[in-house]
Amino acid sequence: MARRRQLYEGKAKILFEGPEPGTLVQYFKDDATAFNAQKKGTITGKGVLNNRISEFLMTKLAEINVPTHFIRRLNMREQLIKEVEIIPIEVVVRNIAAGSIAQRLGIPEGTRLPRSIVEYYYKNDQLGDPMVAEEHITAFGWANPPDMDDIVHLTLRINDFLTGLFLGVGITLVDFKLEFGRLFENDEMRIVLADEISPDNCRLWDSKTNEKMDKDRFRRDLGKIEEAYQEVARRLGILPEAGSRDMKGPETMQ
Ligand code: TMP
Repeated sequence: MARRRQLYEGKAKILFEGPEPGTLVQYFKDDATAFNAQKKGTITGKGVLNNRISEFLMTKLAEINVPTHFIRRLNMREQLIKEVEIIPIEVVVRNIAAGSIAQRLGIPEGTRLPRSIVEYYYKNDQLGDPMVAEEHITAFGWANPPDMDDIVHLTLRINDFLTGLFLGVGITLVDFKLEFGRLFENDEMRIVLADEISPDNCRLWDSKTNEKMDKDRFRRDLGKIEEAYQEVARRLGILPEAGSRDMKGPETMQ
C-alpha cells in the first residue's frame, strides 16, 4: 500500500488523505478512551467491528435519505468518506436516562424520559466538552440557525430510525452521540452526518436483560467488552465471516 498523508489522529480514529480530491480515508483503531482520555485502553477488534457497524448503519440511513459522509468500506479497518468541515458540536440524543443526565439531574438510570431529549456539547478536549445551549452555538457562530434546524431534524429522524432498527434485533437504543459536517458540492453546502455510529458512541442495552452492550463496559470496568461489540455486530447480521479469529485485521502503513 502506498504511503498516505495523515491529516488527523483522534482518540479512536485516524484520517488520511483520500485517493481523490474531496475524499478522506477513515481508519478505525482499537484504542479506547473514556472520561476525556483520563482512562485509556485497547479493545481488541473494536476498530474492525466499528468500521462494519458504522458502515451498516450509515448505509441504512442513506437508504432513508439521511445524507452522510460515508462512501464505501475499503477494508477491515478503513472506509472512504467525503471530506466535510466538522461542526464542533457533539449532538447527544437520549431516550432513557443513563450516564451524565442520570448523574446531573438525579434520575435513576433506566428511567424512560418523557420524550427524546437532544443536548449539545462543545467539542473541545481542553475544556472537557462542556454542555452548551443552541444560544451559545449560534452566538459564537459554530453553526447558524438554518444549520441547527437541519441538525435537529436529521437527529430526530436518525433517532426514530435507529430505535426501530435496534429494537428489531433485541437492543434498546438508550442514547447516542452524533457529529455533523458541512459538505461543499457544486457551490452548495449541505449538512451531513459524519464521524461514526458504533457501540463507542451509543448506549445499547439488551432489550430483555438490560445488559450493557457498549463502551460503558469499558468505562465502568464491566468486562466482556469485545464480546459485547461482537454481539451487536452479530445481531445486526454483519459479524465478519472469519469471526473473532480475524478481528485484529491488517495494519495500515503510516
Ligand atoms: P453521557 O451520558 O456521558 O453524556 O453520554 C451520552 C452518550 O454520548 C453516550 O451514548 C456516550 C456518548 N458519548 C460520546 O460518544 N463521546 C463522549 O465524549 C461522551 C461524553 C459521550
